[in-house]
Amino acid sequence: MRLILLGPPGAGKGTQAQRLVEKHGIPQLSTGDMLRAAVASGTEVGLRAKAVMDAGKLVSDDIVNAIVSERLDQPDCQAGFILDGYPRTLAQADAIGAMLAAKDMPLSAVVEMRVDDDVLVDRIAGRYTCANCGAGYHDENLKPAEEGVCDKCGSTEFKRRKDDNPETVRTRLQAYYKETAPLLGYYYAKGLLKPVDGMAEIDEVTAQIDNVLASL
Ligand code: AP5
Repeated sequence: MRLILLGPPGAGKGTQAQRLVEKHGIPQLSTGDMLRAAVASGTEVGLRAKAVMDAGKLVSDDIVNAIVSERLDQPDCQAGFILDGYPRTLAQADAIGAMLAAKDMPLSAVVEMRVDDDVLVDRIAGRYTCANCGAGYHDENLKPAEEGVCDKCGSTEFKRRKDDNPETVRTRLQAYYKETAPLLGYYYAKGLLKPVDGMAEIDEVTAQIDNVLASL
């Protein structure tokens, strides 16, 4: 299974990708996570990406395409993958199309997560992750079973992203509508677009994605 999760910041792409990883045993390829790892380790890519990400703008296509191309060559992608946050521009969509065609690995589907703008800021402002294993939580919508303790690994350390503030979220939303929303038509025309209601509760969204996958 080779999936793209497409939707605005805060739509729930990362949340659903983590569930798909657990269920299907294929990796989540999150360009946001890969870029944050590059920033944290101070690589040349990280140094170039940091200011752009902090401002909520898009990192250049060349950088992101190169990261994804390298990642796709790793053996764990042979059985499939979930692209989360990539592609985000028409140039990236063309690039991944060419990469996958060269590997004879066609996409299975592009799941569009539809969410109203007015809930996105609340979702992002309330988001935090486990500092140890990366499991995602929310102050209201998805709390750990025991307060302050990660359900997955038991860590008591959590962190919040620097770009998760209302001002940067607005810039990220503008980037989504200007650069990424045209991909909806792009993949619709290819017969790959499968919309789900991202406004529903998290478990219900998971069930809708399961239905999409069962229909492929
Ligand atoms: P990235 O890390 O990809 O961020 P994003 O697309 O803005 O997406 P988010 O991670 O904010 O949201 P999400 O949809 O994963 O939501 P989540 O599941 O966490 O990118 C960050 C930056 O990196 C970009 O701004 C850019 O600079 C750069 N970048 C990355 N990729 C790039 C690319 N391809 N090209 C160029 N630049 C790139 O959910 C959010 C919260 O809501 C969570 O707390 C969750 O618990 C909660 N929640 C989820 N689902 C629901 C639900 N159904 N109901 C209620 N709450 C929910």
